[in-house]
Amino acid sequence: MHTPDAEPIAYINGQFIALKDARVSVLDRGFIFGDGIYEVIPVYARQPFRLSHHLQRLENNLREIQIKNPLSSSQWQALIEQLIEKNNYHNQSVYLQITRGVAARDHRFPKQNKPTVFLMTSALEKQAPEIAQQGVAAITLPDNRWLNCHIKSISLLPNVLLRQQALDNNAQEAILIKGGHATEGAASNIFIVQDNCLITPPKSPLLLPGVTRDLVVELAQANDICCQEQAITEAELFNAKEVWLSSSTKKILPVTKLNDKIVGNGLPGSYWQQMITIYQGYIATLNTNTENKQ
Ligand code: PDD
Repeated sequence: MHTPDAEPIAYINGQFIALKDARVSVLDRGFIFGDGIYEVIPVYARQPFRLSHHLQRLENNLREIQIKNPLSSSQWQALIEQLIEKNNYHNQSVYLQITRGVAARDHRFPKQNKPTVFLMTSALEKQAPEIAQQGVAAITLPDNRWLNCHIKSISLLPNVLLRQQALDNNAQEAILIKGGHATEGAASNIFIVQDNCLITPPKSPLLLPGVTRDLVVELAQANDICCQEQAITEAELFNAKEVWLSSSTKKILPVTKLNDKIVGNGLPGSYWQQMITIYQGYIATLNTNTENKQ
């Protein structure tokens, strides 16, 4: 049972252990090659949010990189629920990573290997009130990542460098441009509002199929808000009335400054206000009924 000052508990290869004591071998292929995938699952009021969607993406990613899923969906669910229970945060961000395990360094897959399974959780950061009042700044940068961005790979060096470049330019996120089109953020998906319609790029190997993105599309449809999945040109991005970022940890952020240009009237727009209200309402409803694991 968790106590108010309990230290964070993690899970590594079958054991719950204090996060500060969790260890992997230096020969782990995650450490040596970045050979693994991850998930980030938000937890509201101690209930994992859109868990089945995250587990489906995990399954797809494992298949893509040819690691056999070490657990069934119900085993994953039980494990995640145990981790939540052992940690003392009301709202959490569960991080889950699977690597190809420990083996002598060799690019080829080891013949026999046991994947490394690691989970930790932290308090889900509260959104600063200024964000709803002012929005955030973003900059555009060339999307110099690989062509399998639909895989949630732990090899995040390009994303890390892009995000840092944004931060160094007083922006919260980098919006990435490939072949004249906006793909996604360094750690988020993107939406724009154009001609009274939400637009987000279609799923492809150029972007991560975000769970938050899918939920925004679903909520738009359920609430009769026009929403289309279509490519966004760089010009459309700059002329958009609103620009949003979406992710499991940040929900939906309004971008009010893009490079040196003000987006819309420089304040979070009315479509964002409407969608964030719907989104928060959806979270609140799920936490008051039993279907909160969907
Ligand atoms: N990142 N695109 C990229 C490149 C991302 O890293 C993320 C999330 C998203 C949004 O996906 P979702 O809505 O499923 O969180 C899109 C997580 C939060 C991270 O790396 O911490």
